[in-house]
This record gives sequence, C-alpha cells and structure tokens, in this order.
Amino acid sequence: MTISELSLSGALVNGLSTQLGELFAIRPTIPGRGKVELLARLVRQAENGAAIRLFYSDQDTMQALWEHIKGNLLQTDTCPYCDHPDDSRDGSCDKCNLYLNFSNKNYLERHIENTFAQRLNIRLSRLNLEHIQKIIHFVDSKLLKIQHRSPDKEFVGTSPCMLSVFSMIRKVAPTEMSVLLLGESGTGKEVTARSLHNLSTRREGPFVAVNCAAIPETLLEAELFGYEKGAFTGAYASRKGKFESADGGTLFLDEIGDLPAPLQAKLLRFLEDRLVQPVGSALSRKIDVRIVAATNCDLQGAMAQGRFRTDLFYRLNSFTIKLPPLRERGEDRVRLARYFLEKFSHSENKFLDFSDEALEAIGAHSWPGNVRELENKVRRGFLMAQGRVIDPECMELELGRPVAPAEAGSASRGSQKEYVVRVLEQNDYVIAKAARQLNISRPSMYALIKKHGISRDNVK
Ligand SMILES: Nc1ncnc2c1ncn2[C@@H]1O[C@H](COP(=O)(O)OP(=O)(O)OP(=O)(O)O)[C@@H](O)[C@H]1O
Ligand SMILES: [Mg+2]
Repeated sequence: MTISELSLSGALVNGLSTQLGELFAIRPTIPGRGKVELLARLVRQAENGAAIRLFYSDQDTMQALWEHIKGNLLQTDTCPYCDHPDDSRDGSCDKCNLYLNFSNKNYLERHIENTFAQRLNIRLSRLNLEHIQKIIHFVDSKLLKIQHRSPDKEFVGTSPCMLSVFSMIRKVAPTEMSVLLLGESGTGKEVTARSLHNLSTRREGPFVAVNCAAIPETLLEAELFGYEKGAFTGAYASRKGKFESADGGTLFLDEIGDLPAPLQAKLLRFLEDRLVQPVGSALSRKIDVRIVAATNCDLQGAMAQGRFRTDLFYRLNSFTIKLPPLRERGEDRVRLARYFLEKFSHSENKFLDFSDEALEAIGAHSWPGNVRELENKVRRGFLMAQGRVIDPECMELELGRPVAPAEAGSASRGSQKEYVVRVLEQNDYVIAKAARQLNISRPSMYALIKKHGISRDNVK
C-alpha cells in the first residue's frame, strides 16, 4: 500500500483492499519517529486512489504526523484547504476561516480548536438519542467538573452553589489572603479550611485547628500564643502556642465569633505585624501563618452589639466564602447520601442501597443540621437496615415530608396533602416554583403529587 497524498485528516492511498466504511489500522513510517499506528476508515474510492480518513488515539502521534506534513508543505499562494487566494492578515483564511500560520508552534492546537465544530458536525448525523444523552452526561459529569472540580474527592458537590464555592476555593487557596468561612453548623467549614490548606503552597506545612468556643477564656490566650515558664501558676515549662505550631502552615480559627475581646485585639495585632508574644514573655516572635477563620454566628449582629471588633472583621473579611445550607444544594443531598453510604459500605464491607422512598425522603427533608446531620442519618440507616435496602424509617426520616415551614413540620399525613395542594395553588401549579418553596427537588415534588393522588390536570 502506498500513500500518495497525506494531510492531518486523511490520505489518498493505492493498493488498499478494504470495504467502504470499514475501520482498519495503517502503520506509516514517519521520519524521526519511526512507525506509528493510525486508525483509518475508507471513505471514497477514486480513480487516483482510495480516500481514507485518519483517527488519532493520542496527541503525540498527531503532532508527529503534523511535523512530517509541515516539513513537506509546498509553498502556495492559495489556501490549501479551499484554494482561496492566501492574503490572510491575521493568519486565518478569509474564506474558510481556517488557521494558516503553519510555522506557529501552536498551529496544531489552533487547528484542532478551529475545526472542532466542523468535525463534530460530520459525526452528529450518526448519533441517536442514546448517544446524545451519553454525551451530555459525559460533558456534565467530566468536563464541567474539571473546570470547577471539587478540590478533593472527599469534598462532594456538583450543585451550582457548590461549584461556585469550589471555584472560589481554587482561586484564593494559592494566595496568602486570610479567609473567612461563613455557614450554618455542619455545612463543611472545616472541610473547606483543609482544602484551602491542601491547595496552597503551604500544603507541606502544618494545618492546625483551634475551636475558640471550646477552650475556656482563661486558657485560650496561652493555648493560642504559648507561654513562658513561670508565666502563671502551673506553668512549669515554656510551651509553644497554636500560632507557633502552625508556623509555615495554616491556622484554622473555628468559631471566631466566640473569641474574647482581649484576644481579638491580639489577633488583630498579629494580622498587622505577624508577631506573636507568648504569655509572660517580653519578646515577640515572627511567625509565618496563614489565617482561615470560621463562624456560624452572625458577626454583623455581634459587631452591632460591640462583641466583635469591626476592624478585625474587615481584616478577616478580605475574602469570604459562604457555605450554602444543605437544603439549598438540590441534588447534592442525594449525591452526598450516596457518597456517605458508599464510604460506610466500603469500611464495613457490607453493600447496601437506598429504597426509592428513602431517596425521596432525603430530597424532601430540610436538613437543619446540614451535611453532618445527613452523614449521621445515613450512618443510622446503614446500621438499622434489615436487609440490603435502607428505608426512610431506618434513617428516622419521614417519607415525603415537606420541609422548612413550621406548619409542615407539624403536619399530619392528612393535612400534608392539603399543605402540598396549597403550595401548588400559591405557585400557580408551576412545579419548579412549588418545589423551590418547599425546598425539595422537582422529582420529589412529583413524587409528593403522586403519593397524595393530587390531580395533575392543573400541573405545569
Ligand atoms: N461537601 C462535603 N462532602 C463530603 N463531606 C462533607 C461535606 N461537607 C461536610 N462534610 C462532612 O460533614 C461533617 C461536617 O463538616 P464540617 O465539620 O466541615 O462542618 P462545619 O461547618 O465545620 O460544622 P460546625 O459549624 O458544626 O463546626 C464532616 O464529617 C465533614 O467531613
Ligand atoms: Mg467546624
């Protein structure tokens, strides 16, 4: 078999005995690279040979082929793709718009980008619905996640609000900025702080967490800043504080809203000059620590009441990440539940699944305790399940219970239907709106309608 013409997308060959459309391999020798294997398909039999289309399994082969083709290109005054006179000013053909600056080292990248839509178009006509759904799923699950991907595999979420959190984490992590994390209890503030550390240049250094609310006020200063021998009764030896332990790394100050006033002043000083003065010491030490602080309390309110220093707040608030409550994370509820179930299943070597009702209940619950509550409920379900399937009862979740509004919490099964109907009426029977009001997903809303036998005639 001899190749008479060769381009990146195909070749003209002689002596080929293959059926039209059939996929086969060719192994041309490329100077400087040796034999390479290319997948090809016969697309046309012509007088001067058979036209084949080439497919590449890796970028290196394509690059090697391009280097070879580039070396043999004839200088022409016309575009090699469409024969239009080559008077391009920005390097692209005025007619077919293809990039013609062959000597540019990024030529191949530009060419691939340029022709992507065209190549996709050629293939589109052969796709059926199943293919299309698979492709959309692939794009959603792989490509979108690559862009905003969760900072680590233990940090689960693909809801829009979590993708935006991940993107903020990626942006701020490599900087030296202090970060303030806000969010209800159990929303993942500590997970976020660890991600910030792991994605920073300090990742080889220590990550030290201090819960400012858990340590008695009298001990907190010594705990944070360390003390000298004899600084107070019982200080038999000097001890370094958390700031010093975190030197070269990240100090996570959890529940910062509970930091007593004198320590707020000391923290502010540290943020200004990076010096730490242990209790009972006349000397200060320079410490290289990045501060990540978190709170689930209302700092604005605390400032208004004079319990939290405004200047400290603005120092810490230079970059704030707000962790959304679980009830606002849509399908992440089910995703997280599956994640925890898989985790428990692997650690216990016992593989269970959720019943449809359990998934519905997970989607419908308001999760006041957020991710921590979800993790605990799934753990409970895992332990209490009778067979291989976890039901809502094992997790102590009520099936299809509408969430959030107080009246829903006390609704008996009888009145639940009335409540759902009322919410539907209030929302003009637009499912998406009613589901949003109830803080549940659309599938859960449909499930509720079905469960209560509500007429779907009005449903939009
Ligand atoms: N997105 C997530 N993916 C996986 N696990 C998560 C996620 N968010 C939180 N968790 C898990 O939920 C639990 C609570 O998270 P974390 O301790 O970070 O929350 P928190 O906001 O610090 O809570 P608190 O305010 O009560 O201290 C932890 O076990 C954590 O691993
Ligand atoms: Mg915490």
